[in-house]
Parts: sequence; C-alpha cells; structure tokens
Amino acid sequence: MAQNANDLMEKLVALCKRRGFIFQSSEIYGGINGFWDYGPLGVELKRNVKDVWWEDVVRRRDDIVGLDSAIIMNPKVWEASGHVGGFNDPMVDCKQCKARFRADQFDRYHLLETTEIPECVESVHDQWEQFKDKPQAASFIADSGTDPAELQKLVRRTLGSKKAKVLTVPCADGPAFELFVDDGRKRYYLNPTQVEEKLTAEDLCPLCGSELTETRKFNLMFKTNVGAMEDSTSVAYLRPETAQGIFANYKNVLDTSRLKLPFGIAQIGKAFRNEINPRNYTFRSREFEQMEIEFFCRREEADKWYEYWRDARFQWYVGLGLTSSKLRLRDHDESELAHYAKACADIEYEFPFGVSELEGVANRSDYDLKCHEKKSGRDMTYFDDETKERFVPYVIEPSGGVDRTVLALLCEAYCEDEVPDENGKMQKRTLMKFSPRLAPIKVAVFPLVKKEGMPEIARKIYEDVRASGLACFYDEKGAVGRRYRRQDEAGTPFCVTVDGQTLADQTVTIRDRDSLAQERISAEKVVQYVKEGIS
Ligand code: GAP
Repeated sequence: MAQNANDLMEKLVALCKRRGFIFQSSEIYGGINGFWDYGPLGVELKRNVKDVWWEDVVRRRDDIVGLDSAIIMNPKVWEASGHVGGFNDPMVDCKQCKARFRADQFDRYHLLETTEIPECVESVHDQWEQFKDKPQAASFIADSGTDPAELQKLVRRTLGSKKAKVLTVPCADGPAFELFVDDGRKRYYLNPTQVEEKLTAEDLCPLCGSELTETRKFNLMFKTNVGAMEDSTSVAYLRPETAQGIFANYKNVLDTSRLKLPFGIAQIGKAFRNEINPRNYTFRSREFEQMEIEFFCRREEADKWYEYWRDARFQWYVGLGLTSSKLRLRDHDESELAHYAKACADIEYEFPFGVSELEGVANRSDYDLKCHEKKSGRDMTYFDDETKERFVPYVIEPSGGVDRTVLALLCEAYCEDEVPDENGKMQKRTLMKFSPRLAPIKVAVFPLVKKEGMPEIARKIYEDVRASGLACFYDEKGAVGRRYRRQDEAGTPFCVTVDGQTLADQTVTIRDRDSLAQERISAEKVVQYVKEGIS
C-alpha cells in the first residue's frame, strides 16, 4: 500500500470511529479480530444500501421474490453443498513453537541478530494500544498472523528467554511494522517477508526454523452445538453463505408463489467465516452480510441470463455512486472457476489497499439443486406446463457483500477541501460525499442563534421533516460554521438554517454540502426540496 493510500485509510478509519460509522467490536475488552460494529451513522448507511438493493432487485421486479432463512441449518445442507468437505484453506503448524500459517499465502519471519534498534521503537503492546484503530495496526496483526501477546509468547519460546520483548517501529513506506526483539542480552531484528506462494516440503518455520507439519485443511465454517448435548451428534454450523438457505427453500418458494421460469430468490443476511487472516478494515471480516440472488432459468438460457446479471450488477454499483473508473468487471479464466461453475465474473473496486472483489456473478449450473436432490431425496425438478418438460433448472448467482459495498462507499465519499469560514478565512474541511439517497442523514436543521424564537421555528421544521420520513438531525449547539462542518463529516447533503429573515418572511437558507451554495426557500418547501434533491 502506498503511503498516501495508507494515510487515506488511516484518516477514514479515524473518521468512522469519531463520527460513529464503524467501531471495533467489543472494543472495551481490547476488540476481537475480524468483527466490527456499525454505529448510528454506519447503521443508517448500511441500511440504505440494503434498502436500495432490496428495492431494485425485489420490489421493482416481478420475477424475483425475497427470503429470510435461518443462519443455522441442518448440517446436512453443508454436507450436500460441499462446505463440510471442501470449504477449506490450507494450513501448516510449526511442530516446535506451534505457530500457525496459511500454506498458500504466508508470512515468513526471520530472527536476525542485530545491534541496531532505532530509538523510536516501542513495546509492541504500547504500539498496539496507540495504533489499534489504524490500518497499519490491523495490517501488523494480519502480517504476524497473530496478536501481539501471542507473538511475544512465540518469540520468548523461540529464544528461550522469559524477558524477550517484541518492539516495533512503523515502516517508512509500508503498511506493516518493523519488528525488533530485545531479550535483555541480545537484540534481534524480526524480518517479515510476505510470500505469496505455496509452502514447499523443505520450508521450515519462519519464526523459529523448526520443522512444519504437513499441510492440513482448515475448515472456515464456525461450529456450534445445538441443544444440551455437546457431542458430534449436535454439531451445527453458522452459515458461510446465505445461498444455501435459498437452495434449500427453492421448492417451498416454487410451490407457494406460482413463479414460472426464469425467476429469482433474493436474500440479505449474515454469513460467518473463520478467516485465517481478517484484514483491510471491514473488507475481510469473520462476520459479514451478503446480498445474494439465485436466479433460476432454463439451461439453454443460462448464458443469456449470466450476461444480463453480469452487466446489470456492474451498473448497479455505478448507480450507487461508485465511479466507473474505480469499478472493474473481471472475467475469471477457466483455471479460476470452481468445478461446478460454468462462468464467473468479479465486480471489483479500487480500494486504497488495492483492487478487490465487491461481488461475484457466477453461472452455478444445476450443481447445487442436484446436490440437494441427491442428499435430501426431495425432487428439485421444475415442470414446464407449456412444453411438458421436467428438469432441474440452471442458476445464475449474483452474490455481493454489504460490508464491502459500505466500505467502498466510505472510501469513495471521503474528501478534503478548503472553504471560507464566517470571516472569509480559508479552513480545511473533511466531507463525506455520499450520494444523497444513501446519506445516513438527509437534512440537518439549525437555528442561527438560540434566541428570538429561532429554536422554536427550527424545531417545528425538524418535526415536519421527520414526520415526512426523511432522516433528519437538529442541532443548536455552537457556532453555525462548526455545525456545518459536523454535518459535512457525516455526509449530510442539506443543511437548513433559520435566521433573522425567517422571522419576517418564513424563508430559510438551505445549504448544499458539496457546492456550499445557499438558497432561500420557503420553510414550507423544505420537505419537497429535500425529496427532490435525493430522488
Ligand atoms: N454464494 C457465493 C459466495 O458466497 P463468495 O465470493 O465467497 O461467494 C460473495 O462471497 C461475497 O460475499 C463477496 O463478493 C464479498 O462481497 C462477500 N464476502 C465474502 N467473504 C467475505 C469476508 N470475509 N468479509 C466480508 N465480505 C465477504
């Protein structure tokens, strides 16, 4: 990651915390890697994304219906889908120090003796406290594959010294930290080298140089037990994708909604994956939300529908306000395709940390329905009463991530400029340029001052705007310039101010977040003005 990209992520993460978009989960207990909470502004933004998706793919179409299936399903679902046997990442463990690495993408560490330790180094624990909300810290944790306390334990075991202390210094131009170790007698440089390649048989533990175990498969599904017995008969899984809930209900929906092919079933919901390396803020999390459509069609029409969804989904992200120059549509080559997939394309976004996937569109053939037919013994065929044919339909699956879309929108919206303050002096401001229909708050209402009846009029406007269903915020504290700045950071597209003139002619000023243009309109027209502005 380039330094300015790093800076951008750092500023964005700080703004998200400061303004209540995203918090680290269980922060009061030091957090938990790979889990995030959405604060008051974040939850509104996320809800708006989900509402727009639902509106566009379910409510405005007559060929797609919705579903909300359970997170925990009969484990046979995951046996049939192949997740119990095949949803794995390859792992190796060190036989000596027990460190664990992902075998296809792992970070080697070499302990080199050194006399040089820069003056600015700090203990890794202090560093973590100081940087824990910043992307470098997240990246450091991801790069080390463990948390600082674990890393310290490993190093102590490796050096056979209870005193060894891991020290860090941020890299000059990278996302990671340089790691140093001081065991009271000698100093070491712990050199992380990221290797994007498979481990070979001769590879030794990057931390302590000992032998590694054979590569083992690490299943990414979170396990739990259902009921009072904690044994193999009660094992269940938190769903790693919402799709299987749709396949398992395909017949129920078909039988109850009189749909004819082609038709789709759409679902938004949580999915869970025990990712080995959660990283890049919310991008790769262990708990996340998916927006998935399974679109059922005749085999001979599958290519046509695949092309349709691939393009329609790309355009959907453009419509959300993600500039098309940062969006990519990448077709998978044959070698990347899952064994059941006939075609697949990723919709990718250029995040500050690199170009990464927002959504995958796949032609999954009749694989899933046939697997469930075989395992459950239930008939998954569709009867076409015109042609009198009976067959298992093909499926086109557009599968997107809510959290990744929100993260892309946050990255896209973050903006800094300079604007004149009340005295004409140029001041830096940070603003979130969300498209108005996605903005968490649509309009903020202020009285210019807290006297002369202005708060009462402003409150009345605020109540009217709220009653119209628009997300609205009332603020009367502090200088009006500061109140504008706060709303700019929240991404509020319109600010309404009640001033001296309002008392005389019932007009207010309405300020545009991006252009800063102020118009005078009748107080009665605020709702109409804002509704037109966000449509
Ligand atoms: N049913 C197909 C499926 O689940 P996937 O590519 O594994 O396909 C679909 O996931 C989408 O879910 C991804 O494009 C991404 O947006 C989101 N997603 C997957 N893993 C994620 C993770 N660990 N954190 C956040 N989002 C994730």
